Amino acid sequence: MIHMKNVSKIYSNGTEALKNVSIDIDPGEFVFIVGSSGAGKSTFLKLLIHEETATFGKIHVNGYDLMNIKSCKVPYLRRTMGIVFQDFRLIEKMNVYDNIAFAMRAIGAPEKLVKKRVKYVIAVVGLKGKEKRRPSELSGGEQQRVSLARALVNNPEMIIADEPTGNIDPKMSFEIMQRLVDINKKGTTVIIVTHELDIVRSFGGRVIKIDGGEVIEDKVIPAAIEQDKKDDDSVEASDDTSDKNTETEASSDTKVIDSEEESK
Ligand SMILES: Nc1ncnc2c1ncn2[C@@H]1O[C@H](COP(=O)(O)OP(=O)(O)OP(=O)(O)O)[C@@H](O)[C@H]1O
Ligand SMILES: [Mg+2]
Repeated sequence: MIHMKNVSKIYSNGTEALKNVSIDIDPGEFVFIVGSSGAGKSTFLKLLIHEETATFGKIHVNGYDLMNIKSCKVPYLRRTMGIVFQDFRLIEKMNVYDNIAFAMRAIGAPEKLVKKRVKYVIAVVGLKGKEKRRPSELSGGEQQRVSLARALVNNPEMIIADEPTGNIDPKMSFEIMQRLVDINKKGTTVIIVTHELDIVRSFGGRVIKIDGGEVIEDKVIPAAIEQDKKDDDSVEASDDTSDKNTETEASSDTKVIDSEEESK
């Protein structure tokens, strides 16, 4: 799903934001990216979504060779991923429902399917009853969940979340993380950039630490909390629209730093 080999990113001002990074992430993995400010975490995400291009190395994401991708193919790459932005990026003149539906309408989904999927993801993130609110009429945590719902609505293979719990209280952070864990259990790859080591320790998973543009640790840690094992039965709408593109790169053979045994 993600294959990065000897990737370096040097910005035009000469900053070497990533140095010789090799990371493989398989379908269905749950991965935290951690590291101090300026370490290169956002640069790593920007390479994955092709907002930036690597200076050296090889990057394959969800079947696309990002060193050779044509610009007309980039929207197709982006459709394989749901991105949760740290600053939400919601459209103020649209209500919650339309903010989420917009992501589906933008790719020409039929309105019947839009209705079904939007209802489903609103239930998943626990926003039932808030469909008509504008973003400014929501709390920070609720806005964050709209952003998450929008990332989920096109049923992506992969969720990429940049500090998804950045501005919200611990209880809500925990809830959002639990949602991401539930989604991951249904097969979606989840990649989360976070500063919050408490969350990482609580939920456990594969933790990739970046420092000074280099991967300095890549290991799997156990969850410190007892995970909710039951299926999520709060979701009423059925999700029978799984049409994920399963065409992926051959899986990894180059997990360079893996201080414990395999991730799953
Ligand atoms: N567009 C850019 N042009 C030049 N240098 C940049 C650019 N974006 C980031 N950098 C530099 O690259 C390095 C890595 O930045 P990056 O944004 O990836 O860090 P980060 O780990 O996401 O940090 P934070 O936790 O503060 O968000 C930093 O030194 C930063 O100043
Ligand atoms: Mg960043």
